[in-house]
Amino acid sequence: MKRVLLNSTPVRLLGPIIQLLSVLESQRMLLLRSTLSMTAYQLFAAATGALSVGLAAAVTTQSTDVDLGSGIVAVLAIGLVIAVIANGLFTWVESWLSHVLAYRVIETLRLKVHDAIERITPAGMKRRRAGEVAGSAMADVEALEWFYAHTLGSAANSVVGPLVVTATLVALVGPTGFIALGGAFALVSIPWLFASLQARQGRAVRGELGRLTAISFEGAESLREILALGLSARHLDEVRTATRRLQRRKRSFALRSGLETALADVVVAVTTITTLVVQADRVASGALDASLFPVVLVLTAATFAPAVAIFAVAQKLGDVSAAAERALDVIHAPSVVADPTATATRTPRGGPGALTFTDVHFGYSATEPVLTGVNLQIGAGETVAIVGASGSGKSTIGSLLVRFWDPTQGDILLDGVPLRARTSEHVRDDVLIVGQHPYLFRGSVRSNLLLAKPDAPDQELWTALDDAALGSTIRSWSEGLDHTIGEAGATLSGGQRQRLALAQAFLRDPAVLVLDETSAHLDAVSEAEVGNTITRLRASKTTIIIAHRIATIARAPRVVLLSGGTIAADGTHTELLVTSEDYRSLLGQSPAAATDHSTTSSS
Ligand SMILES: Nc1ncnc2c1ncn2[C@@H]1O[C@H](COP(=O)(O)OP(=O)(O)OP(=O)(O)O)[C@@H](O)[C@H]1O
Ligand SMILES: [Mg+2]
Repeated sequence: MKRVLLNSTPVRLLGPIIQLLSVLESQRMLLLRSTLSMTAYQLFAAATGALSVGLAAAVTTQSTDVDLGSGIVAVLAIGLVIAVIANGLFTWVESWLSHVLAYRVIETLRLKVHDAIERITPAGMKRRRAGEVAGSAMADVEALEWFYAHTLGSAANSVVGPLVVTATLVALVGPTGFIALGGAFALVSIPWLFASLQARQGRAVRGELGRLTAISFEGAESLREILALGLSARHLDEVRTATRRLQRRKRSFALRSGLETALADVVVAVTTITTLVVQADRVASGALDASLFPVVLVLTAATFAPAVAIFAVAQKLGDVSAAAERALDVIHAPSVVADPTATATRTPRGGPGALTFTDVHFGYSATEPVLTGVNLQIGAGETVAIVGASGSGKSTIGSLLVRFWDPTQGDILLDGVPLRARTSEHVRDDVLIVGQHPYLFRGSVRSNLLLAKPDAPDQELWTALDDAALGSTIRSWSEGLDHTIGEAGATLSGGQRQRLALAQAFLRDPAVLVLDETSAHLDAVSEAEVGNTITRLRASKTTIIIAHRIATIARAPRVVLLSGGTIAADGTHTELLVTSEDYRSLLGQSPAAATDHSTTSSS
């Protein structure tokens, strides 16, 4: 119950927004300056109004004492000129600063979100859809930019402005000057009354927006599969349903907001009428100088102006707060692997690449262990094939080697240093994994290769391509290295994509190379060609080959069988064929065939 109360307070709406300010810390001074210039221009606007009315009143009521009267008129006129100039100046300064601020806010937030996504990927993706995280986080950032850059300042003003104007009013007309402030206060409290409803609606809108983004993102990503499976109608339906749901959420949001606006109009009308009646009565009874009457009306309106601004902000607070909540959620998502302190990372890079697994346990969830005590020594420069049934944890070992995750128990040591004692960036300098679905960037063949080795001359790129058995294909393309690759390598065949990724790996030439099913898409001839190159290029470098294909496995001098979360067998291909029943059945070999095979492959 208490929790519900806490959740429903307007304070909770502001919480995430204020919290996110800490992320914008570097822009705080700019935020302050923008707010101050906004305050200045609003005050000068109020002063302009009051002075011009005052001036008009002074001129029209100028009477007996001509000297005194013209003195006041002169002072008022000079004041008015100054106020008008200052108002213009600060309007300009404010709009300039708020645009600079908008740009900085969006840049800061985007970078933070980007860093966070990189940090929680790929582990974070288990919990959320990739598109939802990336797409909606960026959409949330847009909403926040609007808020911090354009409205936080005016919100701050809504507190300062009315207080200053009210002070002036009270000085002029006495306690009745508080009526306007009361009205402004009532106006601002309307959105507070609906705060908890707004919070819920805001979260719902943001949630639906995230889902819609994810669906659209997914559609764009898997367009081929969607079309091939004849799912386009279904996908369109999904988009339509999500859009409708979003519209419904937005409609409830707008209905509430409309109701608030109506109430606000009532408050403004009541306050204005009250002021009119009260002050007119005072003029009639002689308690108030008639010349002050119009000034009071102008100042009353001036009290409202900032309140109306904060009202507009408060009406959208639910949406902005939900956006801030989601952005914070991403930005503060815990890292799956904790990077060590700076001192622990000063291990030299580019060591010989010896790997030791000591009692490594790991599972993506506590209830489903994948690795349950892997003990393995891989000497520097050794080539080892890791084999095992689908789902046995081969790719998982690859992920642990590049610190996408850390073992839940036990350690992996690279050249005697536990991976956890190095930063993940540091680890990835030394260990490179070419995955089952290599990702290529939109750009040319050259630009993709240069990502692996930025200063490589064309000659070296061609060598790498030839080594990956892709050179002749690229030479046959009229643009050669400048051939454009579509997004995510969409214009390449699966095998070409894998070979290009392999060429990148050759250029990088890391201490430890993990090839996860890298030759799966290749035909037998290319596979043999690539396999021989790997043997040649990686002769003195640690290489782990994860494969299903017998030819690939048989080429490795050492084979490790992963089964039941541990190393079930370890030896040469021929040894394992003889000694391991599991190995034989994995490769689909009968004991007799195994003997045959062992004779052929050892010959
Ligand atoms: N990101 C993940 N989140 C949760 N579970 C996962 C994740 N990745 C893999 N798993 C699970 O962990 C187990 C091991 O998966 P892994 O990808 O390591 O298998 P694999 O041996 O590489 O299989 P394959 O030969 O099919 O590539 C599987 O049961 C799989 O469902
Ligand atoms: Mg795998």
